[in-house]
Amino acid sequence: MKEHTAAKALIICSMGYLILGLLLGLVTALKFTWPTIAEFELFTYPRIRTLHTNVILFGWLFQANMGLLLYILPRILHSRLFSEKLGIALAIVFNIAILGDIISIPLGYMKNVEYGEIPPPFDFIVIFSWVLFSVNVLATVARRKVKYLYVSVWYAIGTIIWTTFVYTTGNVVSQMPGVAGVNQANLTWFYIHNAVGLVFTPMGLAIAYYLIPKSLNTPLFSHRLSLVGFWVISFVYVWTGAHHMIHGPISYWLQTVAILFSWSLIIPVIAVVTNFFGTYGKAPKDKRMSGAVPKLLLVGTIYYLFTCLQGPFQAIRTVNIIVSKTDWVVGHAHMALLGTFSFYAIAGIYYVVPRLAGRRLFSEKLANLHFWIMTLASIPFFGVLWIGGVVQGFAWLNPDNTFLETLRMMRPYHIGRMHAGALIIISMVIFIYNIIETFAGKGKPFDEQPAQS
Ligand code: HEM
Repeated sequence: MKEHTAAKALIICSMGYLILGLLLGLVTALKFTWPTIAEFELFTYPRIRTLHTNVILFGWLFQANMGLLLYILPRILHSRLFSEKLGIALAIVFNIAILGDIISIPLGYMKNVEYGEIPPPFDFIVIFSWVLFSVNVLATVARRKVKYLYVSVWYAIGTIIWTTFVYTTGNVVSQMPGVAGVNQANLTWFYIHNAVGLVFTPMGLAIAYYLIPKSLNTPLFSHRLSLVGFWVISFVYVWTGAHHMIHGPISYWLQTVAILFSWSLIIPVIAVVTNFFGTYGKAPKDKRMSGAVPKLLLVGTIYYLFTCLQGPFQAIRTVNIIVSKTDWVVGHAHMALLGTFSFYAIAGIYYVVPRLAGRRLFSEKLANLHFWIMTLASIPFFGVLWIGGVVQGFAWLNPDNTFLETLRMMRPYHIGRMHAGALIIISMVIFIYNIIETFAGKGKPFDEQPAQS
């Protein structure tokens, strides 16, 4: 089978889910401002919101990351992917699970775990597809032609171990007979938080550690620093899930442990961000902002820094009592998964697809347009959620307010989110068009200069 067939299949499927997931996000946002829109059972709010998160997190981001890693890792390891056939089997099995999820959720058939709503047997099919991915990656590592393992490979191996552990805890262990009440909440918050911290973070960082030096044509600032970040993330992250239950029904000491570990997360974040910015600093000036890829990686890294500073801040008891469960947290989640990890994945697709197609990107101009619209729209998107979240938090704390009044106060912020979200979707349509044209071979040959960069 032709080299990179599996990576190509996963990337193409992920882009279909990106547009579907975004449209579902828009319908969800519309329901906040126009509650009777799409008012039929299959599209009631809890179902459509769940569909948005499942499609965008697993159909788009998780799948795009798997595709990018199957392309990047063999290049770092100077070897071919262990098996393209296994990679295609992974793409088929994984997409069966996602399609099953997409049919089940509107029918109301789902689990009681946020981000883990995918019902059986489809959650078990995801686990099986993860085994296929892991075997392929580990066998490629075992057959590598280089001795030294670059930090992206460390993160990829870490992802394999952590995702296995985190996904089965959230989807299998939390559903076992006898697991209920506070214990179940503890397990599911462990899953929800670590789905970001130990699944999407290491996948995204593996990609960024490869792409930043590559796209800038500059060596990584510090290999030592990259290992500090890796080992601290691997020890610290697992302890932080309980910070979602501060002022909740869990032991006070467990809340304190989660707060302390949340603060220690600043160490790996500073290590990672210093390394990325240091690499930008060492790069020739004309390379730093040339084209969409370095720009996306730079803005993604700025959002990574902000997200990870916001996290410990939100874990302070006095701040938490205001922002917890409000729109603030939705803003925080979007900055991490859209602002950082989707920006990294999009940069990866802009970098990898021309190499898969054997020609340059169809249009650098459109890629830049996509970058600017998405970046400029993301600022008000996150901003209205944070400001609205604080307003909402104070309104909830005032016993004179009815819930309906607090909802009415949020109307301008919800309208703002809807408009900013619509702009992000327009930018993604430009992205998808550019990638389709590139796959169709409409880009210039690599030995010709692009018309505009
Ligand atoms: C790649 C892009 C995106 C990703 C990765 C993403 C991810 C997420 C996640 C993780 C949540 C759950 C947040 C939480 O529970 O705290 C969520 C909720 C939501 N998202 Fe997105 N999203 C994306 C784009 C969008 C867009 C463009 C819109 C609007 C047009 C949107 C609208 C919403 C809405 C309305 C909710 C529900 C918020 C609530 O319950 O109050 N999302 N999204």
